[in-house]
Amino acid sequence: VSLLATSALGQTYPERTITMVVPFSAGGPTDTVTRLVAEAMSKDLGQQIVVENVGGAGGTLGAGRVASADPDGYTLLLHHIGMATSATLYRKLAYDTLNAFEYVGLVTDVPMTIVARKDLEPTDLKGLIDYMKANKDTVTVANAGIGAASHLCGMLLMSAMETQFVTVPYKGTGPAMTDLLGGQVDVMCDQTTNTTKQIQGGTIKAYAVTSPARLDNLPDVPTAEEAGLSGFQVGIWHGIYAPKGTPADVTERLSKSLQVALKDPNVVARFAELGTAPSAEEEATPTALKAKLEGEITRWKPVIEAAGQYAD
Ligand code: MLT
Repeated sequence: VSLLATSALGQTYPERTITMVVPFSAGGPTDTVTRLVAEAMSKDLGQQIVVENVGGAGGTLGAGRVASADPDGYTLLLHHIGMATSATLYRKLAYDTLNAFEYVGLVTDVPMTIVARKDLEPTDLKGLIDYMKANKDTVTVANAGIGAASHLCGMLLMSAMETQFVTVPYKGTGPAMTDLLGGQVDVMCDQTTNTTKQIQGGTIKAYAVTSPARLDNLPDVPTAEEAGLSGFQVGIWHGIYAPKGTPADVTERLSKSLQVALKDPNVVARFAELGTAPSAEEEATPTALKAKLEGEITRWKPVIEAAGQYAD
């Protein structure tokens, strides 16, 4: 038994309110996932988890904020795949992605949808691609900044479509959705946790899902593969992080609490309604998240380098 396995902090943790930073706007997909999980973890931990939205710069501002917070278990980060892509996209990040955090565990893996304002002309993905190519200087594509999932999906779309388009950055796809609904922006690639209700309600148009198979609650939306974009699959995995130096028994306690939260019937049901599912127990662990982040940085690096799009 290692003496390192326990700390004075870990024996009494948590004793007060915990802050969980979402690196995007309130009301968007990361915020939705975080609030559901935070509520269930709060119950298990016996302390409130307050969600704080620190949007901007594709999620890197919020991540930077947590990287420099006290490593005491009272400031956490819930971030997605953008944690991995921003490591390559940003030549100057305020933190060293692989050395600035401790890991709690994986949370969920959310499919994306390619959507548009309700009255955009094309009726299928092939039509959308032709339309976007023909109108490449005027069609606008919303995203949540360089490093966001919507940015990654847009980048993959540009390369699959062999075209460029005009992008409009927001601090999160919550506000971007408001503009899509209002018709101020044309197209978006966004997570089902933000789009499912709107697609079902017919307030936006959906062209494809990026999952390997169709989704139960969006049965009429084809996969990108079916709709003509061969190999176009992307899942937006989410994880919980703590600042580097947070004691291992604290991150272990949080991981156990995350595992409980992911089995909470309300979380399971709401995730299903939103087109996603909780990560398995063995994935909601520090080891699994660390391995995922490392693997994903390696996986996306060459893709980003080939696209040649970097943030300053
Ligand atoms: C959000 O919460 O706004 C999103 O996850 C943004 C994105 O990454 O596209």
